[in-house]
Amino acid sequence: MVTQSVVVITGASSGIGAALARRLGQSGLRIVVAARRAEALRAVCNGSGPHCQPVVADMTRRQDVKRLRDEAVATFGGVDVWVNNVGQGVNASVLDLTEDQLDSMMAVNVKSALYGMQAIVPHFKERGRGHLINVSTFLSRVPLAPYRSGYNAAKAALDSLTANLRMELRRDYPGIHVSLVIPGMVKTDFGRNAIGGSPTVTWATRTGARVESAEEVAVAIESLIESPREELYTRPEQLDAVARYVRDVGAFERALP
Ligand SMILES: NC(=O)c1ccc[n+]([C@@H]2O[C@H](COP(=O)([O-])OP(=O)(O)OC[C@H]3O[C@@H](n4cnc5c(N)ncnc54)[C@H](OP(=O)(O)O)[C@@H]3O)[C@@H](O)[C@H]2O)c1
Repeated sequence: MVTQSVVVITGASSGIGAALARRLGQSGLRIVVAARRAEALRAVCNGSGPHCQPVVADMTRRQDVKRLRDEAVATFGGVDVWVNNVGQGVNASVLDLTEDQLDSMMAVNVKSALYGMQAIVPHFKERGRGHLINVSTFLSRVPLAPYRSGYNAAKAALDSLTANLRMELRRDYPGIHVSLVIPGMVKTDFGRNAIGGSPTVTWATRTGARVESAEEVAVAIESLIESPREELYTRPEQLDAVARYVRDVGAFERALP
């Protein structure tokens, strides 16, 4: 990896974003981290190497996202990698999901990333290079957790926007990479931070899926930055589950306990 790279990470005050900031920052990369909680963000920055800039921002507000881009460019002269990592879950079945909850899921999981893409890709186009990374979830592909309903739907929308952006850029901007990261269940405060929290029995406990650490996901994203590709399943065995699901939805569902 080029140690001069400038990486913007949203949702970096905790969990995966914080682990990624620490990992990349400690390797000497120049890091800009964004989230709403100033103190937590500052603490992450303090542990993220000598070149870390915290920017307090609400990524559901377009003007905050533009300010984040402008501060990153002003501080380090440009941005090489932008990671849209902000996200939040919900605990409500499809039939119980309220309009406000769905609006909130779309704002935090889709619009935040859309604003990020629309803010940074023009900068990448000017430079003819850059790497845009969106963080999704395995649950956008396989509906093992109906209690996450609106979250899963929002991340599926994010998957689609990500793939469409890549197709938009592929002919004229071969130097711009667009990637999707697809983790399984990760041990962070995500479950606690979800609207309505989490059920006591989660999809991972029910299926026996291995829970990853935020640091493992950070290592996977670091490898993606080093060798850009379209999609990265942080647990490769989950790609098999997706393939089985897509091949025959009925058979997949019938085989579930
Ligand atoms: N944990 C899992 O099991 C799991 C699995 C698959 C995918 N993911 C995805 O991984 C990403 C990171 O989640 P995590 O597990 O690390 O959860 P987390 O610990 O709850 O982190 C979420 C981060 O997003 C920030 N955030 C939330 N709303 C924001 C907003 N409006 N503006 C700016 N920042 C905002 C939070 O900071 P502030 O509160 O300070 O703003 C926090 O830093 C999410 O996209 C999530 O969907 C997680």
